[in-house]
Amino acid sequence: MPSVFIKTYGCQMNERDSEAVAAQLVAKGYSLAGSEDLADVVLLNTCSVRDMAEQKAINKMGALIGNARKRKTNQKFGFMGCMAQSRGKELIDRLPDVDLVLGTQKFHRAGEYIDALLAGNSKQVVDTEAEKGSEAAIREHINDGQSAKKAVTAFVSIMQGCNQYCTFCIVPYTRGKERSRTIEDIVKECRQLVDQGVKEITLLGQIVTSFGRREIGSKDDKSAFVQLIEAVHEIEGLDRIRFTSPHPKGYGDDLVQAFVDLPKLVESAHLPLQSGSNRMLKLMHRGYTRERFAEIIQKLRAVKPHMGIGTDIIVGFPGETEEDFQETMSLCQELQFQNAFIFKYSPRKNTPAAKMPDQLPEELIEERHARLLNAVDELRGGMYQDYVGQEVEILVEGPSRKNAERLEGRTRCNKIVIFDGGQRHIGQLMNVRVTSASPTTLYGDPAIVNLTE
Ligand code: SAH
Ligand code: F3S
Repeated sequence: MPSVFIKTYGCQMNERDSEAVAAQLVAKGYSLAGSEDLADVVLLNTCSVRDMAEQKAINKMGALIGNARKRKTNQKFGFMGCMAQSRGKELIDRLPDVDLVLGTQKFHRAGEYIDALLAGNSKQVVDTEAEKGSEAAIREHINDGQSAKKAVTAFVSIMQGCNQYCTFCIVPYTRGKERSRTIEDIVKECRQLVDQGVKEITLLGQIVTSFGRREIGSKDDKSAFVQLIEAVHEIEGLDRIRFTSPHPKGYGDDLVQAFVDLPKLVESAHLPLQSGSNRMLKLMHRGYTRERFAEIIQKLRAVKPHMGIGTDIIVGFPGETEEDFQETMSLCQELQFQNAFIFKYSPRKNTPAAKMPDQLPEELIEERHARLLNAVDELRGGMYQDYVGQEVEILVEGPSRKNAERLEGRTRCNKIVIFDGGQRHIGQLMNVRVTSASPTTLYGDPAIVNLTE
């Protein structure tokens, strides 16, 4: 049977989509190739959020095609995901050897299109149409089959799209309007994963706090999203629940309270800030102020003092002054994030921000980016060191990505811990004593309590 290789750019939603496409193809009898050179079909699952991500995928495709020509292989090539959606046929005009362009509502059709391409029944396929019900079509998981390595953690896509239309963001155009799956359908998928050995589930969407807003609505002062978390929490055998990404606008007290009421919901929150300046937040159409953002963080810390809080920040949005930038710096100082992804503003096609006056010069954006990155690194400096000597609960995920001889797990507040252990530890919740720390990783020994069991 033919083999396929999928390379993924961008966010966790893209990783999840790639997994679902891979699982779908494996179910049809395809094998997963170890490298792009060995594959009969190479798919690039693309990201459009920043220009650099698009350029990377386009250059990669150019190189793949050049290489295939040189080696005279008969490989098939496809783009899928966000850039496939936003650029469509233009990608084939630019790279005529591309065989497939598959939009964000069409992942579940990958199998049939690739079959047809390989059988010679179709020449080139571009499908970026909207499809009703596609939000529920991303359901296959790679460990549905007889995969050698059992997954301990899994992503579950709960909704597609976003209606917030932040002025810098292309996602509402590439992913479409918000569409949520039903709670029942999501719980069923989670339960199957748990039956297969999964211990931790991350609920995924571009704006999960908007989950089911229209389709399900609030009940007893609980948003549809909190109702979903409660339903997933009921699943026996599941140890941990995470979610990403929420939006500050929808981060209500019911969600804060969920961290108190639901022990499987771990102390970890990724809450995108974007800017600390109210003037910028307004221009960005974010729908909250710096004060409101800080209030949410304070509420979370009031119920869970050790919550691991991460964020996303954009520097160099059109019109950002030094004062605006300083507001971001000061809020970072005040809030002490565990980690912050800091992005240089990148103008995106058809977004309102791309047409705003006062686009900042590249050098200024670079300079602010470097300054904020430094400041955030410094602030975080002691945070991991403080754990040395403490005992933490980790879920052991598998071999460490840094050193395959050792194992890697995560604390409830989402810090990576590397330690010496054996196969039997994988998938276990266990306590580890932290013996040393780098700025982004903890190192530990299994604590005595576990050894006596
Ligand atoms: N709702 C999603 C957003 C996806 S984009 C989420 O919260 O994960 C991920 C991050 O990319 C955003 O939070 C933002 O910080 C950044 N981003 C989005 N558009 C951008 C742009 N045009 N330029 C630079 N960074 C951008
Ligand atoms: Fe993008 Fe804002 Fe939605 S960042 S994904 S438009 S919440």
